[in-house]
Amino acid sequence: MFVCLCYGITDKQITKAVRDEGVGNMRDLRKTLGVGSQCGKCIQLAQQVIDNTIIDESLFKEVC
Ligand code: FES
Repeated sequence: MFVCLCYGITDKQITKAVRDEGVGNMRDLRKTLGVGSQCGKCIQLAQQVIDNTIIDESLFKEVC
């Protein structure tokens, strides 16, 4: 699903950036993929994707 239409960034790309490139907040994501640096309409959804990925990662670590 597209999160940032201005830059054509999907939720999968954001998830990958969190997992592989250590993105932990919107500032990091803006620097890495440009998300939120044009119209800003995607910021809330992008933040949710970051948060959900971090929660998933921490649950995975607890289980393993
Ligand atoms: Fe992301 Fe416009 S939709 S900056």
